[in-house]
Amino acid sequence: MPAKMISVTNQKGGVGKTTTSLNLGAALSAAGKRVLLIDADPQGNLTAALGFTPAEHQDTLAKLILTAVDSPEDMEIYLPRTVLRTESGMDLIPANKRLSDAAARLQVMRMSQYNAVKEAERPCEKVLDGIVRQLSKSYDYIVIDCGLKHELLTVNALSASDYCIIPVQAHFLASEGIPEVLEMARAVQERFNRNLKIAGILLTMYQSRPQLCQSVRASVREIYGTDLHVFERPIEYTIKIAECPAAGKSIFDYAPKNPAAESYRNLALEVMQLA
Ligand SMILES: Nc1ncnc2c1ncn2[C@@H]1O[C@H](COP(=O)(O)OP(=O)(O)O)[C@@H](O)[C@H]1O
Ligand SMILES: [Mg+2]
Repeated sequence: MPAKMISVTNQKGGVGKTTTSLNLGAALSAAGKRVLLIDADPQGNLTAALGFTPAEHQDTLAKLILTAVDSPEDMEIYLPRTVLRTESGMDLIPANKRLSDAAARLQVMRMSQYNAVKEAERPCEKVLDGIVRQLSKSYDYIVIDCGLKHELLTVNALSASDYCIIPVQAHFLASEGIPEVLEMARAVQERFNRNLKIAGILLTMYQSRPQLCQSVRASVREIYGTDLHVFERPIEYTIKIAECPAAGKSIFDYAPKNPAAESYRNLALEVMQLA
C-alpha cells in the first residue's frame, strides 16, 4: 500500500499547522506507523521544531523541487540524502528559505506552460506529487506542513494529497481562512487531483469549556454545510505545546500527560480510520 498523503493547510498564519503536522506525525508514529514529515514552508518552522537548524541544510525540499524540474536524472542521488531521521523515529524532508527560490522556479515553469501550445508532461502543480510518489512505498503516512506565502507550493501539496486537514483557531472560526482553503481544494480536485478529500477542520488553541465545541461544530455546519467534518476533539490551548519547538520535541516526548497529547492521539485515531 502506498502511503496516505495528508496536507495540513490554511493560508492563515499561526493557526497551528506546524504544531499539528508534528504532533499528528508523532502520534501516528507512536501507533507503529512509518511516518515522513515534509516541511513545505520556507520559514522552516517544522524543521526547527524537530531540533534541526534550517539554514545549515543544503539538501532540502527546495533542492528536490529544483532537481525534479531541471535535472530529474539526479533525483536518485538527492532523494536519499534529503530525508533526515529524527530522534523520535519519524523521517523529515527539511526546508529553509531557499524554498522560496524553488517556488519562484515553479512560477517560471507555470508561465512557460501558459505559453506552450502543448500541455507540459508534468505541470508545475504536480512536481511535488512526482517526488513523493518515489517515497510513498517506504511509509504509511506522509504529512506535509504547508506555508502561507507561495500558493503554488500549497497547490503542489494538495495535488499530491489524499487528504487535507484544516486547523483553525476555535474562537476565530468564521474568519479563519476556511473558505480560501476550500476554494483552493476544489480547484485542485477539478484540475489536478480527483482523489483529494477534505478530512476535516481541526479546532486548535481551544480555551472554552468542552460543551462549547458542540456549538462551534454547529456553526461550521451552518456556514459550510453538513459534509464538512469537524474532528471530534479540539486541541487545548496549553503553554506546553508552545514550549515544544524550543525543546525540539513533540508533545508526546515533552509532556506526555498533557491533555493536548491525548487530543493529538485522538486526531491520529480519526486519521487512521479515514477510508
Ligand atoms: N494548542 C496550542 N496551545 C498553545 N500554543 C499553541 C498551540 N498550538 C500552537 N501553538 C503555538 O502557536 C504558534 C503558532 O502555531 P504554529 O503551529 O506554528 O502555526 P502555523 O504553522 O499555522 O503558523 C506557535 O508558537 C505554537 O507553538
Ligand atoms: Mg507553520
